[in-house]
Amino acid sequence: MNAPHRKIMHMVLIITATWYWWCLRVGVVADPEINLLNQGCSTYNVSNVSGFYTNLNATFSELRAQLNNGSNKYFATAQQVSGSSRAYAMVQCRNYLSTADCIACFTAAESQIRNCSAANGARVIYDGCFLRYESAIFYDKIIMPGSEGICENQTASQATYFTTAVEALLLDLQVATPKINGFFAASRKEIAVGGGTVYGVAQCVETASETDCLDCLKLAYTNAQICLPRKDGRAVDAGCFLRYSDTAFFADNQTTNISPFLGNGNSSKKKAIIGGVVGGVGALLIIALLVWFSLSRRPKAAFRGDILGATELRGPVNYKLKDLKSATKNFSEKNKLGEGGFGDVYKGTLKNGKIVAVKKLDIGKSSRAKADFESEVKLISNVHHRNLIRLLGCCSKGPEQLLVYEYMANSSLDKFLFGERRGSLNWKQRNEIILGTARGLAYLHEEFHVCIIHRDIKTSNILLDDDFQPKIADFGLARLLPEDQSHLSTRFAGTLGYTAPEYAIHGQLSEKVDTYSFGVVVLEILCGRKSSELKIQDEGEYLLSRVWNLHESGKHLDLVDDTLDPNDYTVEEVKKIIEIALMCTQASAIQRPSMSEIVVLLKSKGSTEHPPPAKPAYVDSDKKIRGDTSTSTASSKSNATASFSQFSGR
Ligand SMILES: *[C@@H]1O[C@H](CO)[C@@H](O)[C@H](O)[C@H]1NC(C)=O
Ligand SMILES: *[C@@H]1O[C@H](CO)[C@@H](O)[C@H](O)[C@H]1NC(C)=O
Ligand SMILES: *[C@@H]1O[C@H](CO)[C@@H](O)[C@H](O)[C@H]1NC(C)=O
Ligand SMILES: *[C@@H]1O[C@H](CO)[C@@H](O)[C@H](O)[C@H]1NC(C)=O
Ligand SMILES: *[C@@H]1O[C@H](CO)[C@@H](O)[C@H](O)[C@H]1NC(C)=O
Ligand SMILES: *[C@@H]1O[C@H](CO)[C@@H](O)[C@H](O)[C@H]1NC(C)=O
Ligand SMILES: *[C@@H]1O[C@H](CO)[C@@H](O)[C@H](O)[C@H]1NC(C)=O
Repeated sequence: MNAPHRKIMHMVLIITATWYWWCLRVGVVADPEINLLNQGCSTYNVSNVSGFYTNLNATFSELRAQLNNGSNKYFATAQQVSGSSRAYAMVQCRNYLSTADCIACFTAAESQIRNCSAANGARVIYDGCFLRYESAIFYDKIIMPGSEGICENQTASQATYFTTAVEALLLDLQVATPKINGFFAASRKEIAVGGGTVYGVAQCVETASETDCLDCLKLAYTNAQICLPRKDGRAVDAGCFLRYSDTAFFADNQTTNISPFLGNGNSSKKKAIIGGVVGGVGALLIIALLVWFSLSRRPKAAFRGDILGATELRGPVNYKLKDLKSATKNFSEKNKLGEGGFGDVYKGTLKNGKIVAVKKLDIGKSSRAKADFESEVKLISNVHHRNLIRLLGCCSKGPEQLLVYEYMANSSLDKFLFGERRGSLNWKQRNEIILGTARGLAYLHEEFHVCIIHRDIKTSNILLDDDFQPKIADFGLARLLPEDQSHLSTRFAGTLGYTAPEYAIHGQLSEKVDTYSFGVVVLEILCGRKSSELKIQDEGEYLLSRVWNLHESGKHLDLVDDTLDPNDYTVEEVKKIIEIALMCTQASAIQRPSMSEIVVLLKSKGSTEHPPPAKPAYVDSDKKIRGDTSTSTASSKSNATASFSQFSGR
């Protein structure tokens, strides 16, 4: 190429790129953003297909009418409950779209969701909008199975600075969005070095509460974080959406001023100084080239690989043994966090500075255990819920099997109830811990696509995060023990105080085994006493039988931990919690409520309208320990078979 020719090429490049740049910034390029991020169809079909379609079609028409009705309408729900086939539907567009783009995105979603044919529930999530329908009301459902991060392939240059900027941006969005009317925010942040900018949006469904929105975004944040330092990442869930990118994907004038919602005063934010300042053809050319490249790989194509597998199980990250050794200072005693039921746990600092907990699994050397390890770990690493400890990855190359978990600075609940920090949890925090633990278990039992029975729920397996929210640890691991002896093994004997009688004695396993242990944990949280303390001080009673007797004689308040401030709770609240705990610890497994029923009971105001609980197991007229399983016919649902999953991954 000769010199004048090259000059012309440069000019063309600059002019075109600048044009795109300008279009993008002022939002002229119409784009309904219909690249599919996630689709799910329920595994259950409706019974009356034509009746259901009539209703579903009517709800879709109404959603469309609502989106069309004046500007600034980005969210709508509609339902048809006439006839036998109820239909509930919800649509939400990202607020930076124009009304026309929003409608276009909805149209695409409506046509895409029809390929779930007769399914009684389905969802379609695009960058620009999402659409969901169900045959039962779902508007307050926030977390869905398979909530996840969806990542672009390419890694950002200046990975460290990029990551820092994105994390700061997403945290700001996570804090601000729940406080903003309409639950939407779009923002951006300068990268400290290299002069780039990162862009992000966060959004919650408008039927969520402020707390639900925050909870959902917290989980979304950890999901999106997994994408870093890649250039573009999203986290999709039933109740919220979070996205970051190194490219502006919303117009400049759509940026939300989030600083008033960040709370911590004036966190002196550097204002965006883009363009204008930079002079000279050289600088312009660099910008033009950057824009050129980012545009040329912009939507769809780059995502296809990730989208297809979007809701399928992903394999866990494989860590190198030598990295984990150096992270934990060769598993030094100093780094030891504790001795869990399945092996010792060590604190580790990975090369990128992330702090993790590394568990050295002690599951025996049977070949079956090894064979099960990989499939089990793959399963567990796909469990994402705010009340369940996140498994980040594993390492099975060396002599031992190692699991890498997120690290919880506050350690476990038993320390706060009976240990060195006894008395530091107030009434509200204890209630949140009870509810969160119930939610985590409900997810494991009923919402994850395989029913996982924990089998070892106890206070030392409930970890607390920085906000004292509970996260259940060690789920899924019990399945690695040989089937015939897990309930007899010494690790379980150690926690007999928590084990349901039908399981401890006959090995009958069902989800209700966890319900029982949960009930015991609730009582421990309320009373501040260990169930395994065989005698309560001088009263010579077991915890459960003491609770039952005081419940019968109406002296509920006598049970409450005396480190709690009596002004913080009422008799009704205490009574409600004790009744729920007693329902959980009934001798008959069938009579114990499911964990999702417990969540509803815990959230309900006032007293429960449930039949009064029957006497718990282990309480006998002559107060001997006895497992009465004569009335218990543990449900035969195998822990390995999937059921109740709302959606099958697509
Ligand atoms: C944002 O800018 C575009 C292009 O100038 C304009 O059409 C649109 O009305 C603006 N939106 C708002 C909310 O000001
Ligand atoms: C649901 O209906 C679809 C199409 O009508 C059919 O292919 C599928 O097998 C049905 N699924 C069940 C679980 O009945
Ligand atoms: C299916 O629903 C339609 C409309 O609601 C109703 O007319 C019809 O009788 C229903 N069919 C059956 C088999 O229930
Ligand atoms: C619902 O709408 C779809 C798509 O527009 C159409 O194919 C179908 O016939 C409609 N069904 C009913 C029962 O109205
Ligand atoms: C459109 O908006 C008006 C007032 O804002 C409201 O009364 C009407 O019900 C809305 N129509 C639909 C279809 O939502
Ligand atoms: C629905 O469409 C998606 C994406 O086009 C495809 O992956 C999926 O297999 C389709 N499902 C059915 C039931 O046709
Ligand atoms: C993304 O990753 C996949 C699989 O690793 C690879 O085949 C594909 O070429 C990558 N795409 C881009 C745009 O880098």
